[in-house]
Amino acid sequence: MVEFPNLFSPIRVNRIELKNRIVMTATHLGYNAPGGDVSDRLVGFYEERAKGGIGLIIVGGCPVDDHVSMRNMMRIDDDRYVAGLKRLTCTVKTAGAKIAAQIYQAGRYVHSSMIGGRTPFSASEVPSALTGETPRALELEEISLVQEKFAEAALRAKKAGFDAVEIHAAAGYLISQFLSPVTNKREDRYGGPIENRIRFGLEVVDRTRKAVGPDYPIVVRLSGHEFMNRGNGGREAKRFAKALEEAGCDLLNVTVGWHESRVPQLTTFVPRGCFVYAAQRIKSSVSIPVLACNRINDPPLAEAILQRGSADMIAMTRAVIADPDFPNKALGGKKNKIYHCVACNQGCFDNIFKSKPVACLVNPRVGVEGETRIVPSGNPKKIIIIGGGPAGMKAACTAAERGHKVFLVEKSDRLGGQLLLNRNIPGREEMATVV
Ligand SMILES: Cc1cc2nc3c(=O)[nH]c(=O)nc-3n(C[C@H](O)[C@H](O)[C@H](O)COP(=O)(O)O)c2cc1C
Repeated sequence: MVEFPNLFSPIRVNRIELKNRIVMTATHLGYNAPGGDVSDRLVGFYEERAKGGIGLIIVGGCPVDDHVSMRNMMRIDDDRYVAGLKRLTCTVKTAGAKIAAQIYQAGRYVHSSMIGGRTPFSASEVPSALTGETPRALELEEISLVQEKFAEAALRAKKAGFDAVEIHAAAGYLISQFLSPVTNKREDRYGGPIENRIRFGLEVVDRTRKAVGPDYPIVVRLSGHEFMNRGNGGREAKRFAKALEEAGCDLLNVTVGWHESRVPQLTTFVPRGCFVYAAQRIKSSVSIPVLACNRINDPPLAEAILQRGSADMIAMTRAVIADPDFPNKALGGKKNKIYHCVACNQGCFDNIFKSKPVACLVNPRVGVEGETRIVPSGNPKKIIIIGGGPAGMKAACTAAERGHKVFLVEKSDRLGGQLLLNRNIPGREEMATVV
């Protein structure tokens, strides 16, 4: 009897069937080659997650044009990237997971220094708190050219063997900039009432559908609430979701907030599962599947969300960075062996905003999977490890996993070292669960 029957039941999204409901949503890793090509490091990272039993991996974000907003992003804006992307999709599919590509245009979230001094564009000339710069407004006749870039990128994703494509319409990127009254001050048919503000995104979906054909899954990531002063809330999100369903979208990935929002969305202070309400609200207005996101790091919580019908699929993204094997562990009755993400963000989110590659406080193998495979030792030994802080404990676990007999020696009466200090800081108690 499977302990998490909802989590491990299959689900169909257009022509593809996913073996379970666990999704790794798009994560910019900073592992691509400087030119944007797929690297061995990237393939090694995703292969390990696919082998760990996850249903769907969404990779990216991949800019649809040369407006790259961060260093070492995954590129899909030219046919020359297709061969490398094929290597990635083949590896992940062979390892048993489905794989989708997230495509996006960052609009006013691109800094001019990233695009050779050109001025980034947006719906209107509204300064960006993220870059400190003011974009130019897209001319009416430029709009269809930008939309076409999404369709071209989606077709490239299909050619590269991705099982699906995800259009990023959240987080404050270009499609959100058209959707939101905060950044859309236009007076043409793309501005003004919500019917007009959703037009840009819907036309992107429409063009994409025409490019990829009727049976290719299209996912859209949207914000269930922008958390922006005078921005869109739940009502507008529902309106957009309904229109996306009518436009032929197959799955809605409901996140919250923008990069400029003051509401914390990812930190350890954010209660687990607290944004599921946003997915649930969307689910009540559409009949296509809905994916719930943010701070869901434990199979029992994911199972409960599915069981009560709040969502159809669950994003457990940093959870599989921390422990790539957690789906197989949960399926195999070993949930107590899961290393949980504690949402510290120190190695992942903080790193990428410092232009560094993603690492993980919980999992030292992140980003070096290929070089650090844990294989049984041909020569098991007795090993003494002095010091039961996080490093000593992890070394002890790894040595034991390799078949050595380990003695872990700690002078105080508790294991955990300085990590235990977190137990005394209100809101950070979860950090100590690593111990
Ligand atoms: C290092 C890092 C990079 C991310 N990059 C993207 C991205 O490129 N596109 C996107 O839509 N979300 C991105 N996200 C957000 C994740 O997809 C996900 O929504 C977030 O981590 C919350 O889910 P979790 O609590 O399950 O990790 C990123 C998150 C992290 C930690």
